[in-house]
Amino acid sequence: MSHQLEKVKELIQLREKARLGGGLKRIESQHKKGKYTARERIAMLLDDGRFEEFDMFVTHRCTNFGIEKESYLGDGVVTGYGTIDGRLVYVYAQDFTVFGGSLSESLAMKICKVMDQAMKMGAPVIGINDSGGARTQEGVNALAGYTEIFQRNILASGVIPQISGIFGPCAGGAVYSPALTDFNIMTKGTSYMFLTGPKVVKTVTGEDVTQEQLGGASVHATKSGVAHFAVENEEEGITLIRKLIEFLPQNNMEEAPTLVCTDPIHRLEDSLNDIIPDNPNKPYDMDEVIGAIIDNGEFLEVHKDYARNIIVGFARFNGQSVGIVANQPKYLAGVLDSNAARKAARFVRFCDAFNIPLVTLVDVPGFLPGTGQEYGGVILHGAKLLYAFGEATVPKVTVTLRKSYGGAYCVMSSKHLRGDINYAWPTAEIAVMGPSGAVEVIFSKEVAASENPAEAAAQKEQEYRDAFANPYNAAKYGYIDDIIEPRNTRFRVIRALQQLQTKKLTNPAKKHDNLPL
Ligand code: HXC
Repeated sequence: MSHQLEKVKELIQLREKARLGGGLKRIESQHKKGKYTARERIAMLLDDGRFEEFDMFVTHRCTNFGIEKESYLGDGVVTGYGTIDGRLVYVYAQDFTVFGGSLSESLAMKICKVMDQAMKMGAPVIGINDSGGARTQEGVNALAGYTEIFQRNILASGVIPQISGIFGPCAGGAVYSPALTDFNIMTKGTSYMFLTGPKVVKTVTGEDVTQEQLGGASVHATKSGVAHFAVENEEEGITLIRKLIEFLPQNNMEEAPTLVCTDPIHRLEDSLNDIIPDNPNKPYDMDEVIGAIIDNGEFLEVHKDYARNIIVGFARFNGQSVGIVANQPKYLAGVLDSNAARKAARFVRFCDAFNIPLVTLVDVPGFLPGTGQEYGGVILHGAKLLYAFGEATVPKVTVTLRKSYGGAYCVMSSKHLRGDINYAWPTAEIAVMGPSGAVEVIFSKEVAASENPAEAAAQKEQEYRDAFANPYNAAKYGYIDDIIEPRNTRFRVIRALQQLQTKKLTNPAKKHDNLPL
C-alpha cells in the first residue's frame, strides 16, 4: 500500500471512530432511554445526505482529575451545516455518549463556530440539547464556554432564527442558551430544564419534587411558558422544526418563502356569518375562525397550552407566511392577562424582527382585574404587548369580530398603533367598556333611584349598547377602515396583505429600545 493510501485509510478509520462518539455501549444506553444519538438526530433533521460536518477531530484540552486520559474525537457535540427543503441551516447536536454531552471549552468553541458561520451566511441555527451541563472537570473554562455561546445567542437574536430542541437534560446555566433563542421544543418524558435540580431544591426550600415535576416538557409548555412546544417524541420534534423553518425567512433581511397556494383565495366561508352567539357572554371557538380563513386550515400554533386565552401561531394567506394573534373567547372569555400579554408580545416581536406580517383577530373583553394580576405586574406585561404592536413595522391587518373594550382595544393592533388595515365584523362592539360596566359607572345613582332598578339598568344598558356596542361609531372616525361580511374575511385579508406588500416604515434611530421588562 502506498504511503498516500495508508494516510487515506487512517483518515477513514479516524472518521469511523469519531462517528461512534462515546462508543457502542453508550449508544445502546442512549437508545434504551428512548433517545436518538446526536448524529441520528441530525440525519433526521436535514435533507437526505446533505450534512457537512465541522470539527470532527476536535478533542478537549483539559488535564484536571485524570480526564486527559479519556478523550473522544468530536468531544461531545456534532456540528455542521446542511439543508432543510433545500435551504441552508446550521446545526449542532450535543452527544450524550461523550461525557454525557457535558460542555467543555472545546465543545463550546465548536458551537460558537457554527453560530459565527450562520451569522456570516445569514442562515438559521438549530441546536439540539442533551447534556449534563458544565463539564465538571473543566471548571471555569466550561463557564467561559457557555457564556461565549450566550453572547452569540444575544447578537444573533433578531438577525437569524434560532431554534432549540431539548431532547434530554438541560440544567443549570445551560438553560440560558435555549431561553435566549426564539423557539424551544421539548420532548415529553425525556427532557427537562431547570436552574437547580431536585436535590438542591430539597436542601434550599424543603420541597420534594421530581425532575419531571420541576422542569419536564409539560410543566414548561403549560405553566412557565419556557417551552413553545411539547412533543410526544423526537420524531415529532424534528418534523416540527422542519415545519417551523418553512414559515421563516433565512434572516432579518429576507422574506419568508411564499408557497404555491392551493386553497382558492375567493373562498367564502358561510359558517362565519353565523358563528357569533346571540348572547354576548357565550363563547365560541376562535380556532374555528382561524381554520376557516387561512390556507388549507394549516395552522402551526405556538405556545398552544400556555395562556390559552390568546392564540398565536403561523399560517399562510395565499401562500404568504403570516403570524396570527387572536383572542380566544373559549378560555377566560379571551381576557388579556399577564401571561397572555407576554406570550403574544414575544410572538409579535419575533414576527416583526423577521418580516412576517401580522394578522390580528380581536374579541377581548378587556384586561383581567384583581390583585393577583396587579401584584404580578399586569401593567408592565400589558405594556409589553402594547409596545410590541406599536413598534412593529411589518404589515398589520386587524379584524375585530366581537368585543374590543377599553385598554385592550388600544393594545390589540388598533389603528392608533399604526395598524394598516383595520376591519370589523358587523357584530363588533368597540367601546370603553361593556354595557353593564358602563351603566354601573355612569348611571348607578339614576338606576338606584328609579322605581324598578333592574328594568332601569336594562334600559340604560340597551341605550349604551345602541350607542357604542357596534363597529359604526369607530368606523365613523376612520378607526375602522371597513365593516366586512364575516364570510368574506379570507378574501379581504388576502387583499389587504397584497396591498401591503411594498410597505415601508421605519422607527426612529436609537441604540435600542427600553421595552418595559
Ligand atoms: C462531566 C458528566 C457530566 C458533567 C454527566 N457526565 N454529566 N461528565 N461533567 N456535568 C458523564 C457521567 O459521568 C457519565 O459518564 C455520563 O456522562 C452519563 O452520565 P450518567 O450519570 O451515567 O447518565 P444519567 O444516569 O442519564 O444521568 C444524567 C444526568 C447526570 C442527570 C445529567 O449525569 C447528572 O446529574 N450529571 C451532573 C449534572 C450537573 O450537576 N451538571 C452541572 C450543572 S451546573 P460515563 O463515563 O459513565 O459514561 C452547570 C453550570 C453551567 O451546568 C453554568 C453556565 C453559565
